[in-house]
Amino acid sequence: MVILRSFNILFQILTVKFSKYLSTIIYYFFIVNNMKAHKIIFFNQKGGVGKTTTCVNLGAALGALGYKVLLVDFDSQANLTGAVSGDGRKSTIYQVVSGQKNAVDAIQKTIFENLSLIAGSVDTAGLTVELVDEAEREFYLKHALRDLDEMFDYILLDCPPSIGLETMNALAWAEYVIIPLQCEYLAMEGLNLIMRTITNVKRSLNPELKIMGILFTMYSKRVLLNQDVVDDVSEYFKDLVFKTIIPRSVRLSEAPSHGMPINVYDKNNVGAKAYNALAKEVVERAW
Ligand SMILES: Nc1ncnc2c1ncn2[C@@H]1O[C@H](COP(=O)(O)OP(=O)(O)OP(=O)(O)O)[C@@H](O)[C@H]1O
Ligand SMILES: [Mg+2]
Repeated sequence: MVILRSFNILFQILTVKFSKYLSTIIYYFFIVNNMKAHKIIFFNQKGGVGKTTTCVNLGAALGALGYKVLLVDFDSQANLTGAVSGDGRKSTIYQVVSGQKNAVDAIQKTIFENLSLIAGSVDTAGLTVELVDEAEREFYLKHALRDLDEMFDYILLDCPPSIGLETMNALAWAEYVIIPLQCEYLAMEGLNLIMRTITNVKRSLNPELKIMGILFTMYSKRVLLNQDVVDDVSEYFKDLVFKTIIPRSVRLSEAPSHGMPINVYDKNNVGAKAYNALAKEVVERAW
């Protein structure tokens, strides 16, 4: 009897201890883990497929949902910076990556809800040459942005249209890749190269990297080829394809010249609605 009672007490102590550890484990996995920003890049080596348009409008839609969002303009064309009325003459991502500025100090607030920016700069194009002989040259961005993880819910980074050193830095830093895909001829061939690049990056630079989804952009139902591409890619990649399809809309192409995301420029536009739907899908897919 005494032995049984001792066992019971021991079991209760272990249960209490275990549940304490369990709650600590749960706390770390679900609370602390979720307090870290989800780091998403928009990657397609092809130019003009909607990377920047998706980065700005998805960011604004996430901001409108109440999430704290940072946009990082890592393309030397700096289109993202202008699209949210950002100021490229202030601190830029080039200064951050080249060690002249701290990332936190380079953040500028935009006039849009929950939306901050690290501006782009034409100088970013020079990084490829400047870093070429450096050891660990693919990890400069990751080191430069390491202090930002706890400050935001989402960090969205716009890539240039190439698979150069800048894009490798982006892939080494990111948690998720979104692949914007224009529904046109040879889309599938381009996708194969993207998938191979991501597989290689996972093997060598960033084992944690995940593809969040393939996003069809500039879709027009009047163009038969657009639907053929959607059908082919969806059949092959299945759940990897976002349910949301971004339609072609003139208002989406006008908004950047006014320095506004679409949900501010014309919130009832079909493009605004599509990016709102995409934001909800992204929240569901980001774990
Ligand atoms: N859904 C859309 N409907 C109409 N025009 C669009 C749409 N998405 C993007 N565009 C326009 O297409 C052009 C290319 O888009 P965007 O700049 O987003 O592509 P990108 O992939 O970032 O290009 P780059 O590779 O040069 O950086 C821009 O003029 C943009 O305004
Ligand atoms: Mg772009």
